[in-house]
Amino acid sequence: MDVAGKVAIVTGAARGIGRATAVALARAGARAVVLADVRAEAAAETAALVGQHGADAWLRATDVGSAPALHRMIDETVQRYGALHILHNNAGIGEGADDWPKVSAERSAAIVDVNLRAVILGTRLALEPISRAGGGAIVHTASGAAFTPLPPQAVYAATKAGVVHFTRSCAPLADTHGVRVSCVCPGLVSTDMVQESGPGGPAPWLQAIIDAVEMLTPEEIAGRVLDLVRDPDSAGAVVSVENRPRSA
Ligand SMILES: NC(=O)c1ccc[n+]([C@@H]2O[C@H](COP(=O)([O-])OP(=O)(O)OC[C@H]3O[C@@H](n4cnc5c(N)ncnc54)[C@H](O)[C@@H]3O)[C@@H](O)[C@H]2O)c1
Repeated sequence: MDVAGKVAIVTGAARGIGRATAVALARAGARAVVLADVRAEAAAETAALVGQHGADAWLRATDVGSAPALHRMIDETVQRYGALHILHNNAGIGEGADDWPKVSAERSAAIVDVNLRAVILGTRLALEPISRAGGGAIVHTASGAAFTPLPPQAVYAATKAGVVHFTRSCAPLADTHGVRVSCVCPGLVSTDMVQESGPGGPAPWLQAIIDAVEMLTPEEIAGRVLDLVRDPDSAGAVVSVENRPRSA
């Protein structure tokens, strides 16, 4: 699919991977990129970058963990632009400074709501509009944590494994609705999420991994997301982007 002239939604677009994807979509000629995030100030910076590439950037303050808010954001996007072609379900949160099982019950529920429930619901809500627009692509940001036990981030890893399995089960939607659902599974990416995983910087267990690998960049992941958007055979695809060992 050619991105030029298309309407896209990116969740978690205020910074990190979401910002990089929003900018990459604009650079590829998207007509409009809807920036759905809870961080208004940072999202405004993304909007400026998207605008520099000629796309209409629409800031939609949205907590994707809230079903009504997600519903409103997708409905209003379709009303405003008359179509929807691309959804990047990217917003995500981890345990934060309190590892599993110290993490509170409330935070555990929020991780499930943002990382998994919003991906399922967003896909459900975007399906009909994308189908009506002649078909398109939904790409989730899962994680390499989907495939490896991650004891300090057990809830996070479980939600990402759920996203991978959900993606595979959505493969037939390409035939029934013209919507290709896929996901990208990054290793460690240099973003604020990593920096905020511990008190005053990366969590010690994460720092040990960071010391051993070359970090990926948000732009590299955005490139893979765009590959999946464009690829006519991406239905059900689960694409891992792994870290290379740090060179001596
Ligand atoms: N950074 C990594 O190493 C890494 C690795 C694998 C997967 N991921 C995944 O990539 C995605 C993006 O992560 P990132 O590294 O860019 O993190 P980030 O923290 O820099 O960006 C995440 C964005 O999501 C937004 N967000 C959080 N909760 C939200 C909510 N309820 N509603 C709307 N927006 C919300 C944040 O405000 C932020 O702008 C996440 O799903 C994350 O799990 C990250």
